[in-house]
Amino acid sequence: MRPRGDSGVTSILGISAFYHDSAACLLRDGEIVAASQEERFTRQKGDASFPRHAIDACLRSGGIGVRDLDFVGFYDKPILKFERILETYLAEAPRGFSSFRYGGPLWIRDKLYMERQLRRELGYKGKLLFAEHHESHAASAFYPSPFEEAAILTMDGVGEWATAAIGLGRGAEVTLLWELRWPDSLGLLYSAFTHYIGFKVNSGEYKVMGLAPYGEPRYVDLIYRELLDLREDGSFRLNQAYFGYLTGLTMTSRRFDDLFGGPARAPETNLTQREMDLARSIQVVCEEIMLRMARTAHRLTGQRNLCLAGGVALNCVGNGRILREGLFEKIWIQPAAGDAGGALGVAVLVWHRYCGNGRAVGSEKDSMKGGYLGPQYTETEIEDHLRRVDARYRRFERRDLNRRVAEILASEKVVGWFDGRMEFGPRALGARSILADPRSPRMQAQLNLKIKFREGFRPFAPSVLRERLSDYFELDVDSPYMLLVAPVRKERCLPLAAEEAGLWGIDRLNVPRSDVPAVTHVDYSARIHAVTREANPNFYDLIREFEALTGYGLLVNTSFNVRGEPIVCSPEDAYRCFMRTQIDYLVLGTFLLDKSVQPEWKERDSWRHGLQLD
Ligand SMILES: [Fe+2]
Repeated sequence: MRPRGDSGVTSILGISAFYHDSAACLLRDGEIVAASQEERFTRQKGDASFPRHAIDACLRSGGIGVRDLDFVGFYDKPILKFERILETYLAEAPRGFSSFRYGGPLWIRDKLYMERQLRRELGYKGKLLFAEHHESHAASAFYPSPFEEAAILTMDGVGEWATAAIGLGRGAEVTLLWELRWPDSLGLLYSAFTHYIGFKVNSGEYKVMGLAPYGEPRYVDLIYRELLDLREDGSFRLNQAYFGYLTGLTMTSRRFDDLFGGPARAPETNLTQREMDLARSIQVVCEEIMLRMARTAHRLTGQRNLCLAGGVALNCVGNGRILREGLFEKIWIQPAAGDAGGALGVAVLVWHRYCGNGRAVGSEKDSMKGGYLGPQYTETEIEDHLRRVDARYRRFERRDLNRRVAEILASEKVVGWFDGRMEFGPRALGARSILADPRSPRMQAQLNLKIKFREGFRPFAPSVLRERLSDYFELDVDSPYMLLVAPVRKERCLPLAAEEAGLWGIDRLNVPRSDVPAVTHVDYSARIHAVTREANPNFYDLIREFEALTGYGLLVNTSFNVRGEPIVCSPEDAYRCFMRTQIDYLVLGTFLLDKSVQPEWKERDSWRHGLQLD
């Protein structure tokens, strides 16, 4: 083990930045103390700039300053990335010129001189280490997991060269065994369809997955025949003639348009059956590739457990398929599976690999603290803010508050729930959530259109008491981060009337499918967040109160934001979102606010940026 810092504690700061979703993570003696995404502070979704606010928040949580850091780790290797850009340019020249011209100088300026820039931004002179992109993902998947040994599978768009990797984690060792290399990338293939279906790349992938059940897989054969040559082990070659990311700044080429019968859907225009069928088709292909890679991971490692990370691991439908396939007994998925999680990955990698520290796994628990790694606000800070904006509020004892909120929810009102430390990663897990009654057949449309201002088709997820999980869903494993999809139990599903069964596409949306319709997707599935008291006592107790009142031990849980805005971070963000939408009640810690008695909301110019729609 290497010597510790002056304080006797080794402090490591992990950073991911300059690609998308910048983030920071603080590790003290191997313990994950804090982690946050920059977007939450700057209110710019997917903010890729240097994560100064996230770093400040992490250091504040640890009660330390930059001078106390023993190591800073960066989540990928800029030189390798630059090499890939350059080689792609040379191989594709002169067609690659525009890509290089626009991508090149930016990469040189912001990335090649990363070390100097990082030091300058941080004001840091100590040890600075760079990990490889997929090593950072693999480390974020394995080290915090509850497994002593496991297979590791990472899949994303692209890092330096690798676009997917398989590894073995054992004790404190992570060894990569297999990789798929640029330009063949599952993440980019999915993103190409995301773009073509008319959603934003890097954030609209989740919408494609949600849209898929409305469509038919009629393009699957075409995709296999023309776009990719898929091998048994899950590796594949993409036919680059159909893609634009090597030679230009587009995801897809003219040939792609011709193959699928026309240009990409323009954003914000009506979704047609074609887009739904495309979404279903690429989802089917994505799941098949994920399954094949998982089989390869199993064959190469012989392990019973699997850890997942990388942006594709946010495809919770695919994760559910891997679980049901039964290759692995247990699956653990890093909640910040995308590049933000790389900040955590490189920090734990420095601790174990560079510093040579062992790894003790003593229980079934992972070391993510439920994913609640962001900042929190004291009751005094919350009340100060409420006074500043002249809000009307009432403070409750926790038990009384939970009972009152359960009653509010049971009367079909919508509640913004802000409590404790903010989540790290893209899913809200009961710290910054909008909550509603899952029994309500009108809730999905109401939440989408009046509160989140987003597309009506998008599904909502349940937060369910862990011990009640299998009463509602065909699943009985931990799913603490809303990253597994499972079917709703058969006996809860409602048969469709003959005329309803004949409906197509979006028309199927408003037909209740179970006794918990607000969390039942059109294919009778649900994205599961299983809640334990240990992970989040206040949220767990609230669901228990709702169960005592209604007999149902689950709630609708969606992230506390509107479309195009990052999840709220501070009481100020939460109050603003509450006042701008039709959320009926807001809970901030132990304070309860009723919308109907709030003073009139006046929009301030400085707040407008939070409401851009993508
Ligand atoms: Fe990545």
